[in-house]
Amino acid sequence: MHFQGKSFLTTTDFSKEELTYLIDFAIHLKALKQNNIPHQYLQGQSIALLFEKTSTRTRAAFTVAANDLGAHPEFLGTNDIQLGNKESVQDTAKILGSMFDGIQFRGASQDTIETLAAHAGVPIWNGLTDMCHPTQMIGDFMTIKESFGSLQGIKVVYVGDGRNNVANSLLVTAAILGVDMTIASPECLLPDEFYSKQASLYAKESGATIHLTSDVHSAVKDANVIYTDVWVSMGEEDQIEARLDLLKEYQVNEALLKDVHEQFIFMHCLPAFHDTKTSFSQQIKKDYGLDEMEVTDEVFNAPYGKQFIQGENRLHSIKAIMAATNGHIFIPRQYTKNES
Ligand code: CP
Ligand code: NVA
Repeated sequence: MHFQGKSFLTTTDFSKEELTYLIDFAIHLKALKQNNIPHQYLQGQSIALLFEKTSTRTRAAFTVAANDLGAHPEFLGTNDIQLGNKESVQDTAKILGSMFDGIQFRGASQDTIETLAAHAGVPIWNGLTDMCHPTQMIGDFMTIKESFGSLQGIKVVYVGDGRNNVANSLLVTAAILGVDMTIASPECLLPDEFYSKQASLYAKESGATIHLTSDVHSAVKDANVIYTDVWVSMGEEDQIEARLDLLKEYQVNEALLKDVHEQFIFMHCLPAFHDTKTSFSQQIKKDYGLDEMEVTDEVFNAPYGKQFIQGENRLHSIKAIMAATNGHIFIPRQYTKNES
């Protein structure tokens, strides 16, 4: 079985069938939760939640998911433990792995999470690194499947900073799943060759089409999903001015959406800068005169905006990931086609 005891460091750790299983299992777990049917697949386990970077959704989702699965979550913030400061990642992994049954990590470095996975001896789940955001992908493709009934023939267009963690993961995951994917970004913010090559290889197998472009207006034509993310990711705050210059033409607003498919949704992993109700966006307004950044308030609040359902789906999808990799559950054969 490919799931049991396995870490989730990037979506490429799993096959198309396995990712599809996680999406379908998440939809199933959502129904169980909505109907108050218990699903305590991790009863008695302890789960460590390591956060080097801040989080609302991922932290809340892992916490509630662990509780619903009958496990005990423990938050270990970067200022609370020795990790990286007074103790190596390797030594920390050995200790935490000897006490906890599974570990979530959110931080900058993909190397850190790989070292944790190599030495902990328990599943490590990636709650975001600078390179990728794999747990987000299960909730996102779950949201697309719920909205359209299938992933078949869906055209997803990501608009904005095309070389951040979310864009990298969307590109590669869509290619694995056979979903048509376009990234529309300024030339210098298009995905690294590493991800575009990886996506092309997966796309050959799955039949997905992959398109990278700087022409945002033709990119969004006939899109079923327009997805955007912040223009400045966590840790890049010193690049604000340059990003505003580069990305102002890539704002998701009503004018940009005029040629999308009639069956259309807007998505955003959140948090989003669509108004001036945060201290960050107030500072942006003061310094640069902007009220909205990657998405306008009008689009954000439109009926086709699915970002809050997408946010809730982080809970169900993270639950599916933890239960599948650590819950000794039965997994039907059609989802394990590539098992060796
Ligand atoms: N989408 C997401 O990961 O949100 P948080 O940063 O709030 O966890
Ligand atoms: N690209 C964003 C995603 C936040 C969930 C960041 O890294 O800040």
